[in-house]
Amino acid sequence: MTMEEKIAELRSMQEKVKEGGGQKKIEKQHSQGKMTARERIEKFLDPGTFTELDMFVTHRATNFGMDKVEAPGEGVITGYGTVYGRLVYIYAQDFTVVGGSLGEMHAKKICKVMDMAMKMGAPCIGINDSGGARIQEGVDALSGYGQIFYRNTLASGVIPQIAVIMGPCAGGAVYSPALMDFVFMVEKTSQMFITGPQVIKTVTGEEVSPEQLGGAVTHNRKSGVAHFAAKTEEECLEKIKELLTYLPSNNMEEAPIKETEDDPGRAEEKLMDIVPVDPNKPYDIRDVIKTVVDNGQILEVQKLYAQNIVICFARLKGRSIGIIANQPRIMAGCLDINASDKAARFIRFCNAFNIPIINFVDVPGFLPGTDQEYGGIIRHGAKMLHAYAEATVPKITLVIRKAYGGAYLAMCSRDLGADQVIAWPCAEIAVMGPEGAANIIFRKDIEEADDPIEKRTEKIEEYRTKFSNPFIAAQRGFVDTVIDPALTRPYLCNSLEMLITKREQRPAKKHNNIPL
Ligand code: HXC
Repeated sequence: MTMEEKIAELRSMQEKVKEGGGQKKIEKQHSQGKMTARERIEKFLDPGTFTELDMFVTHRATNFGMDKVEAPGEGVITGYGTVYGRLVYIYAQDFTVVGGSLGEMHAKKICKVMDMAMKMGAPCIGINDSGGARIQEGVDALSGYGQIFYRNTLASGVIPQIAVIMGPCAGGAVYSPALMDFVFMVEKTSQMFITGPQVIKTVTGEEVSPEQLGGAVTHNRKSGVAHFAAKTEEECLEKIKELLTYLPSNNMEEAPIKETEDDPGRAEEKLMDIVPVDPNKPYDIRDVIKTVVDNGQILEVQKLYAQNIVICFARLKGRSIGIIANQPRIMAGCLDINASDKAARFIRFCNAFNIPIINFVDVPGFLPGTDQEYGGIIRHGAKMLHAYAEATVPKITLVIRKAYGGAYLAMCSRDLGADQVIAWPCAEIAVMGPEGAANIIFRKDIEEADDPIEKRTEKIEEYRTKFSNPFIAAQRGFVDTVIDPALTRPYLCNSLEMLITKREQRPAKKHNNIPL
């Protein structure tokens, strides 16, 4: 064979793999509003940067007729490329090839890029579109999943791991995404569930559609399994690229700085119009955040889940920050089980990847009720305390209005390790809200008064005047400074700049034991 002939043979082999499961299956994929695995990778990476690995890997299964089944690319495309010029590793399951099902060699291809991502310190993006374990391969397929889960865990906190669900994702297959940092889903075409509608019907008699059971809306709004929902695959891939701009490539690096024209000294009188002084009036905390951060840009995570707390990425003076903020618009901004889980995991992500944390506090307390107590609000709320206390990144707490009791500690008070606590003059920092406090400490006065209702109002006011302000805490040094709200951005920018060289050690140990 001449060299030309060898090259021609190589080309024809490459072409065959690139055709995946063939034109008919590709058309079916398109007719469902889905791109093929190859199209997704092309769309996602910077043009012309994809280098494919393991194109010629084949399965070695023989049972159940598999010896006659050709599976081009083994049902998964793997490799590396760049996003906005930064290296990423990627794999995309190819549903057109044996339903993207995962067998021994398919798993090996995925494990190889995961290992490389870890060694080189670059994010790993996994696009899932698969019927699950390749049933014909039995325990070899099961072992393949096990190897991926193991690597997901080793990579956790070392490199960002992003799971993209763009098709079915059933059975144990959902656990690799669950072990990754962020899960993206596409409305109507992606589903995640442990047991599908058929099994559920057989076992419990419940009838539920795949979309209702495990679609993007379900997992973004109800279960909290997913972090982002997109209407189309294109929108989804764009969102992932946006997320990557806020993240470092690995835990040894800082996130890239994005130059900004936005003046760090920018004062904003309008903050006073956004936040009503009356502590019982709601407002949207996102309006405050957007007024303060660079160019009003935020990337909200888990936007639809536990909306009483807002978590988002943003920037100050070009530096990535993670924001945790009570949302007075929803449930008055109370902390509950879901909000605690949502915030604690985000705090830990930011800490693992050197992203400073800023807390916007306006919290009346933990949500009361038997649902919350029986559901374990004690151990869930403790996750926030634990996550803040263990975090060694710069931590800045801004107290806007209410900051009562345990919920204030759970939002990172000075004692939980906040490096700077800044308060607005309307802040109310106290052991509990004036209503509850007056009921307890003035109970006798109220009971014995001629007009208990009037007395109670008077005593609430007395408590509010005496204790519900930021100055008692400032007198003890729990609050570093009380500021004119208009100057929030300059103060936050200065504090962050001052804290950026922060180094803090924790006692040597194997790992923490966070309440789960
Ligand atoms: C082998 C599979 C497969 C699988 C799909 N295929 N899933 N082959 N193993 N798990 C094949 C189909 O036989 C078909 O082959 C091709 O992929 C396309 O599948 P269709 O059924 O035609 O597609 P569609 O109608 O779109 O339905 C998609 C589907 C369905 C809903 C995902 O295929 C399905 O229910 N698959 C099985 C899902 C499942 O039960 N998985 C759990 C496996 S056990 P042909 O040759 O006809 O084109 C598991 C445990 C993991 O995952 C544990 C990890 C810890």
